[in-house]
Amino acid sequence: MKSVNPFPINQYLGPYYFCDREEETSRLISNLVNGNSTTLIAHRRIGKTGLIHHVFHKLPKGWQGIYIDIQETENLFDFLNLLATGLARAIPQKTRTGTRFWGFLASLRPVFSFDGLSGQPQVSFDIKSTDPQKDLESILKVLDGLGEKFVIAIDEFQQIIQYPETNTDTWLRSKMQQLHNVFFIFSGSQQHLMTELFSSPDRPFYRSTLFMKLDKLPGDVYAKFIRKKFQENKKSIDLPVIKEMLEWTNHHTFYVQQLCNRVFAQTTDVATPELWRQVAGSILAEQEIVFFTIRNLLTKHQWRLLKAIAADHKVYQPTAGNFISRNELGSSAAVLRSLNVLITNELVMHDFDKDGNSFYAVYDVYLQRWVEMNRL
Ligand SMILES: Nc1ncnc2c1ncn2[C@@H]1O[C@H](COP(=O)(O)OP(=O)(O)OP(=O)(O)O)[C@@H](O)[C@H]1O
Ligand SMILES: [Mg+2]
Repeated sequence: MKSVNPFPINQYLGPYYFCDREEETSRLISNLVNGNSTTLIAHRRIGKTGLIHHVFHKLPKGWQGIYIDIQETENLFDFLNLLATGLARAIPQKTRTGTRFWGFLASLRPVFSFDGLSGQPQVSFDIKSTDPQKDLESILKVLDGLGEKFVIAIDEFQQIIQYPETNTDTWLRSKMQQLHNVFFIFSGSQQHLMTELFSSPDRPFYRSTLFMKLDKLPGDVYAKFIRKKFQENKKSIDLPVIKEMLEWTNHHTFYVQQLCNRVFAQTTDVATPELWRQVAGSILAEQEIVFFTIRNLLTKHQWRLLKAIAADHKVYQPTAGNFISRNELGSSAAVLRSLNVLITNELVMHDFDKDGNSFYAVYDVYLQRWVEMNRL
């Protein structure tokens, strides 16, 4: 797929638009080829989904990737429907394996519909007549015997914790062990849930997969990539300007891409420092309504804490006396209570720096910049 703007922000369009991740890509492929499923964890909007598609693009011959995002699923029926749709889209009906697989799908009596826009088949199952667990087992078994290798990437995997069916993870884990030609990438952004699923000794997935934590792209590599994309399109941007843009977006992939996308669109020949600042200002102005809404949903104390974290960028000890008094936050118990709410609502993230020290930061880069600017 080709885009006029070299900084796509909605979907993976191919290696030309994708910056680096070479080490992560080869590690993931090597894990899979060696029979290891992998758990991929990162904060939101860092590039998990992009990486999965990039890996799919680079899989060796005879391997096929299937992607499903289970964020919106509520139970195993939804999961079954989504997986069947993913498979139906990935496996062309007219190939030898396709004929076998589609023959099997038909035996589950799916209702097919076609997406009006893309013409892609949409499979939906008659949920009254099926036992989703049994059907999923059959699907995986058939897939395993098709004579090819498959990677099923399940994005936002932590969602299975919400399913009313208990022990979905126990069941999936036991099925996984019986498969020889189907491997998994489990990806998710809610780190505490993902870690609980995969690294807690009393959960079935404990030590069953290899772990990969996706970090931000290295600044110098990203800067060169950005400059090159401008040059390839007969526009120019200086490294110091790119450096300012990377800093303003905290090197957070989605925000970098969006800012670059807009700056690129507005540049005739040369992207100037004035131009990117103006673009950044309009992005914040567009988001203002969202920020006001967030502010209204929070208590005064929670908002004050959010402001304080935004101002410091990284806060290592939110209950330290000096941080509390400087920001008039009352007691450390009150700070912990508010912090909890901010984390649960994904307004503040908890992370570790290179030395393993834990810190807190505002999750949404735009919100951070806006709060910092306005100090409302
Ligand atoms: N290496 C990369 N080079 C260029 N663009 C990238 C890269 N990785 C991701 N992107 C782009 O950045 C944006 C965010 O990435 P992506 O959607 O993959 O993040 P995510 O971690 O899956 O986010 P979420 O948690 O919200 O699902 C997307 O528009 C994607 O195309
Ligand atoms: Mg994603």
